Amino acid sequence: MLRKIYNYILHCRAKRRVQNNAIIEGCNHIFGNRANVILMDGAQKEQVLIGDSCWHRGRIIVQTQGKVILNPHSQIGENTDIFSVNHIEIGAYTAIAPNVTICDNNNHPISPEQRRLMRVNPPGHDSKLWKHSVSSPIIIGENCWIGANARICKGVTIGDNSIVAACAVVTKDVPANCIAAGNPAKIVKRNIDLDNSIKS
Ligand SMILES: CC(C)(COP(=O)(O)OP(=O)(O)OC[C@H]1O[C@@H](n2cnc3c(N)ncnc32)[C@H](O)[C@@H]1OP(=O)(O)O)[C@@H](O)C(=O)NCCC(=O)NCCS
Repeated sequence: MLRKIYNYILHCRAKRRVQNNAIIEGCNHIFGNRANVILMDGAQKEQVLIGDSCWHRGRIIVQTQGKVILNPHSQIGENTDIFSVNHIEIGAYTAIAPNVTICDNNNHPISPEQRRLMRVNPPGHDSKLWKHSVSSPIIIGENCWIGANARICKGVTIGDNSIVAACAVVTKDVPANCIAAGNPAKIVKRNIDLDNSIKS
């Protein structure tokens, strides 16, 4: 009984955290106990859009001008992180497994001098923000499936219906109806929509 009450409190807190920091459209959302949306460096709640019937169990962090759009019926698994300083869009009906990272920037600058500067500055200093690293939009199409522990890097577009295998690191575009696997991810299957030998 106590556990149920505790879980209920965690759930209410998570829902409030998300609602305070995102625009939520429609109904039938599911928010996990650890779901969160964090806005930094002047980002506004209008920069995070959660569509109708989305499930959000992970963490969305938006800095500066970043934007995250979860289209209707998309799902974000537990411990999955979505980091944006540019633009990330998740297509309708797309499922993101637990422990995935989707990051539209390099996190840190490439320049050794600028990284050294980050180290000597205190926590929260401007030099630590993602706006100082290279960034590029990530677009994940409709009805995709991103496997557990995968990482989707900056600038990647994933076509409709495609699958990213568990633990893959995706650094290049994945066309529609493909499976991508490995590090860096390569296309290992095409035309999964046409292959009748694949068990559904
Ligand atoms: C390596 C990294 C910094 C990108 O650096 P970059 O100079 O912008 O590199 P690019 O995106 O231009 O890619 C260069 C090549 O490396 C490959 N590559 C980039 N990141 C890769 C990764 N994580 N794994 C495998 N290959 C990778 C690219 O596919 C590209 O290959 P190509 O030359 O065959 O086309 C970035 O991808 C990365 O991994 N950052 C670490 C993020 C992290 O761990 N953050 C944790 C919080 S600090």
